[in-house]
Amino acid sequence: MTLERQNVSPDELQRVNKIRRDFVANVSHELKTPATSLKLLAESLEETLDDDPVQARLFAAQLKKETERLAHLITDLLDLARLESQETVDRPTLVDVRGVLMSVLARMRRVARGKEITLQWKRFGKAAHYTVYGDETQLASMFTNLVDNAVQYTPPGGRVEVAGGSEGPEIVISISDTGIGIPEEKIPRIFERFYRVDKARSKATGGTGLGLSIVRHVAENHGGRVTVESVLGEGSTFTVYLPRA
Ligand SMILES: Nc1ncnc2c1ncn2[C@@H]1O[C@H](COP(=O)(O)OP(=O)(O)OP(=O)(O)O)[C@@H](O)[C@H]1O
Ligand SMILES: [Mg+2]
Repeated sequence: MTLERQNVSPDELQRVNKIRRDFVANVSHELKTPATSLKLLAESLEETLDDDPVQARLFAAQLKKETERLAHLITDLLDLARLESQETVDRPTLVDVRGVLMSVLARMRRVARGKEITLQWKRFGKAAHYTVYGDETQLASMFTNLVDNAVQYTPPGGRVEVAGGSEGPEIVISISDTGIGIPEEKIPRIFERFYRVDKARSKATGGTGLGLSIVRHVAENHGGRVTVESVLGEGSTFTVYLPRA
């Protein structure tokens, strides 16, 4: 970090240092929980291995699931750390946003079908209108997180719709769902790291609360932004605005 070399006021430095301390505290806390359950599960597996192979198999399956969760958390943390350390995209190239979205949707389709959720395209214009100057991997990660949330927080039988358009110099991509929605007073907090509206439920579904922080950083690193509109019990729409190349 180069803060010390820049002209930063003592107040600002103090604020940034506090954010860093909170981050480390949060990360330690978030890692401790899965680490504890891994140990417990390994012990349970060891104890049941000889006498109760059926139970042992269940513990092994849980162990695998917890390990995946931990790996997911670590990947997200590393992505986020990398995104936060820069303010723009490192080596930007021309990216076809429509193509990125298509492959994200192709990958998410199976998950959606498994939950009986319809995943639809809507209103996409000419491919030529969807080019940005940026990082394809980051953009894919941003859209994956948004579609993943839409599917995750929508009950079976619901619908997720992805629409693309342009407004002046910007590309506008919206991801709407007919899901559980977000309470109005919680909306300002959802982009914070580790923030989950319903911690207990999120734990069961494996959420870490980092997805939307990644989304916001990717949008900002591309000179864009993300907005959200949501009605509790009816659904949410996340809209990404990116400057066209
Ligand atoms: N489409 C949505 N509908 C309803 N709630 C949502 C939606 N997207 C996000 N949220 C709320 O915002 C919170 C933060 O979302 P975020 O993607 O950052 O974390 P997460 O989904 O819990 O975990 P992960 O890091 O695995 O994505 C979620 O826990 C959820 O409460
Ligand atoms: Mg998420």
